Amino acid sequence: MHPRETIAILDFGSQYSQLIARRVRECHVYSELLAPDTPPARLREIGVKGIILSGGPASAYEAGAPSCDRGVFELGVPVLGICYGMQVACQTLGGAVGAGHSREYGRVRLHVRRPDGILAHVPRETLVWMSHGDIVTEVADCFESVATTDGCPVAAVRHKTLPVFGVQFHPEVTHTPKGEQIVRNFVYGICGCRGDWRVQNVIEAAVQAVCDQVGPNDRVICGLSGGVDSSVTAALVHRAIGGRLINIFVDNGLCRRREADMVETTFRDHFRMELRVVDARERFLSKLAGVLDPQEKRRIIGHEFIEVFQEEAVRIAGAHFLAQGTIYPDVIESGHGPTGHAAVIKSHHNVGGLPEKLGFELVEPLRLLFKDEVRLVGEALGLPETLVWRHPFPGPGLAVRIAGDVTEQRLELLRSADEILLEELTAAGWYRKVAQGFAVLVPVASVGVMGDGRSYEGQNLIVIRLVESKDFMTADWVHIDYEVLATMSNRIINEVPGVNRVAYDISSKPPSTIEWQ
Ligand code: XMP
Repeated sequence: MHPRETIAILDFGSQYSQLIARRVRECHVYSELLAPDTPPARLREIGVKGIILSGGPASAYEAGAPSCDRGVFELGVPVLGICYGMQVACQTLGGAVGAGHSREYGRVRLHVRRPDGILAHVPRETLVWMSHGDIVTEVADCFESVATTDGCPVAAVRHKTLPVFGVQFHPEVTHTPKGEQIVRNFVYGICGCRGDWRVQNVIEAAVQAVCDQVGPNDRVICGLSGGVDSSVTAALVHRAIGGRLINIFVDNGLCRRREADMVETTFRDHFRMELRVVDARERFLSKLAGVLDPQEKRRIIGHEFIEVFQEEAVRIAGAHFLAQGTIYPDVIESGHGPTGHAAVIKSHHNVGGLPEKLGFELVEPLRLLFKDEVRLVGEALGLPETLVWRHPFPGPGLAVRIAGDVTEQRLELLRSADEILLEELTAAGWYRKVAQGFAVLVPVASVGVMGDGRSYEGQNLIVIRLVESKDFMTADWVHIDYEVLATMSNRIINEVPGVNRVAYDISSKPPSTIEWQ
C-alpha cells in the first residue's frame, strides 16, 4: 500500500503512541509508528509530510535515553514533539531538560501566549492533560515558549526558524478538550495535508497491493474464522483476485449456535466465494474428551486446527499464498523490538507455523489498519452489520467457556444459554455498547428444587459475562440495567434444561481475565 500522505510517529514508548496515530488518521491522513532511531534518509524516502515525536517513559537527560537523529529536524519537514518528544526536540536543539519541582498529572490549566501555529483556534485559557515529571528548564534562543501552565513555564514551544513545535501536554487524549484542534493544526495548517486517507482509497490501495503481490495464475488460501478480521481479509482479497481465492472454514464443533451457517450464507451464498467447510466436529471432540485443563484444551485445539487446515490446504493446487487478518496493533506490538518490524503470525488464528510448514507467502491486506478502520472497510465492502460489529470470539471457542470436560451435551446447553444472552443483549440495544458478551458454563451441581425435594442432579450454573474494554488488555464489567439481566436469567432458567442458577460476573480485568479460563 502506498498512501499518498504520511505522518510518521517516532515512538519513544508512550502508552499513547497508538492513540496519536489514530487521531491523525481521524484527520484522514495516514499515520505510522516507526522506531525512534529511524534514519532521516528513510523518512525522506517515505516522503513523510510531518513527523511527530511521541511521549515516553524515559528521562531525556539520562544516559542511554532514547533520542532521534538531529537530522530529523533538518529535513524541512514539520516536527511536533509531544511530552518526552518535545523534551527531546528542545534538548537536541540546544535547550536543557530537568526534573520539575512537582509532577504534573491530570487536567491542568494552560495559558496560551500565542494563539497561532500549533495553538491556532485554541482559547487563551484551556484545559490540557499532563503526565510528566520532567520539564524543559531552559529553552535555547532559537525556541520561543508559546504557552505555560502554573507548574511548567514551557508548556508549548515553537522554533523561530525551523518548522519544529512542541507541547508538554497530551493533545491525543480526550481529556484535552482542544486536543483534536491541535492535531488538526499540525496535520492541516502546518504540514499542509489534504486528507486522502478515506475508506475507498484504503480499499483501492489494498486491492492493488494484493494484485501486485499475487501473480495472475496464483491462488490464495484464506482461513476464515467468521470473525471480523478474517472476514474483511477474505472480502478484500476476493475483490482483488476473485475466484482465485479459496476460503477454508474449519468447523471444530466449538462454535456458537448457527455460526457455521452464517459463514456459509455470507461467503458462499451472498459473496459467491469459493468456500470449503471442513466438518471436523467429531475429530475435535474426541481429542478433547476427558481434558479438564484449559491450557491443554487450547494446545489440543490449536494443534488439531493446524492438522485439519493443512490436510485441506494441500488439496488446493497452485496455492502459494495464505491470506491472514493481521491488523496494525498486531504488527506494532511485535515490531518495536531491536530487530524492527517483523510481524507475528496472528496467534489466535491458530495458524501459527503453517506458512513455514507449507511454504506459504503471507498476504496481509489489513496490516496497516486499526480495528475500527477494518470495520469501516468491512462495511464498505458490503459485509453484513452483524458480522462487522461482532464481539471477539476466542480461537478455542466454547471449549474455554465450559469449566471441565467438554461434551456435546454441555456444548449444546451452553449454546442455548449463550444464544439467549446475545438475543436479549441485542434486543435491549446493548450489543454495540458491550465489548464482549458471553455465557460460561460451570457444572457445579448447585442445589435446586425439583417438585418437593432438593435436587443436585444434572444442574448447572450459567455465568453471564459482559465487559467493556477499549483494547482488551484492561476491562470492566458492564453496569447494565438489572431488567436486562433479569430477562436473560428468567429465559435461561426456563428455556435451558439443566440450568437452575444464573450469576453475573462483576470482576474487572486485572486481576480477573475476560474469559473464565
Ligand atoms: P483474557 O481472557 O485474556 O482475554 O482477558 C482477552 C481477549 O482475548 C480473547 N482470548 C483468546 N483468544 N485464543 C483466542 O483467540 C485464546 O486462547 C484466547 N483466550 C482469550 C478473549 O476472548 C478476549 O477477547
